[in-house]
Amino acid sequence: LERDILERIDTAENEAALEDARIASLGKKGVVSERLKGLGKMTPEERQVAGPALNGLKARITEKIEARRSILKEKALTERLKSETIDVTLPARPEQRGTIHPTTQVWQEVIAIFADMGFSVAEGPHIENDWYNFGALNIPPEHPARQEMDTFYLKPKEDGSRMVLRTHTSPVQIRTMENETPPIRIIAPGRTFRSDSDRTHTPMFHQIEGLVIDETTHMGHLKGTLEAFCKAFFEVDDVKMRFRPSHFPFTEPSMEVDIGCHWEGGELKIGEGDDWLEILGSGMVHPNVIRAGGLDPEKYQGFAFGMGLDRIAMLKYGIPDLRAFFEADLRWLRHYGFAS
Ligand code: PHE
Repeated sequence: LERDILERIDTAENEAALEDARIASLGKKGVVSERLKGLGKMTPEERQVAGPALNGLKARITEKIEARRSILKEKALTERLKSETIDVTLPARPEQRGTIHPTTQVWQEVIAIFADMGFSVAEGPHIENDWYNFGALNIPPEHPARQEMDTFYLKPKEDGSRMVLRTHTSPVQIRTMENETPPIRIIAPGRTFRSDSDRTHTPMFHQIEGLVIDETTHMGHLKGTLEAFCKAFFEVDDVKMRFRPSHFPFTEPSMEVDIGCHWEGGELKIGEGDDWLEILGSGMVHPNVIRAGGLDPEKYQGFAFGMGLDRIAMLKYGIPDLRAFFEADLRWLRHYGFAS
């Protein structure tokens, strides 16, 4: 009996098997326990012999179980350590890093280019009153430009006036003239809003305004500045540009600027070619606007321009749909190389 029990303990492969062996011998109904129960029915003489023998057996079994248990524990630990070692030769899982959104990248690039030309950055609020967004910019109440702008209006205030989400960055022209004395040389990048949405329009978009005011700045400076900008931004040595007469209430004369481009193997090439793409509106600041900014139009003059930031990002990176810019689709960002 003893040999069988001890052997079973010795060959137990794991702690569960060892526990089974313990129950089979020392458990409530185990063979040794059953025999110990039998002691009661024995004569005192028999008991004197069998009692110590059984208790000795019980003690040896208990000892054996403990010994086996520590061996099994050791074994389990060794195995765990073996399986849990770090395989330093395994290639690291690719890390997913956030990146700068194309609009933000272009925003920063444009600031850097104009900073090199001596411009500083100005800002204005997204919510404007009628005066800054329209009136001061020579757009009187009944002017058709108000309808064309697809303006988002806020709820009327008690006095009946309505604030607007600025439809362009031009209000920053006025705010800057109010706060600075010429010479003024600023750009104002920021969010703008119009109730419009298709492949090339989104209700929220970005513009960059430029304003130069001093006593002598003329249209030649405007052309030179924009040409220098386009060469730097589109990274071309020469850029074909077209200054097209246009109309804005806040500039006189006004010009829209197109850049030459062409398609080559499904790719849009900027700088040369027979196609034209409009990239900005510009002109000499209207005397009324200079006056609205608190400056004397007899003394001061200058130019202004307004460019669609998202628009020039589309051109630079060959992105056909503007709406995708604001959908936060990682697949799209990765496709254009803006995310890893
Ligand atoms: N504010 C004009 C627009 O949003 C652009 C512009 C700015 C034109 C400055 C001329 C001068 O379309």
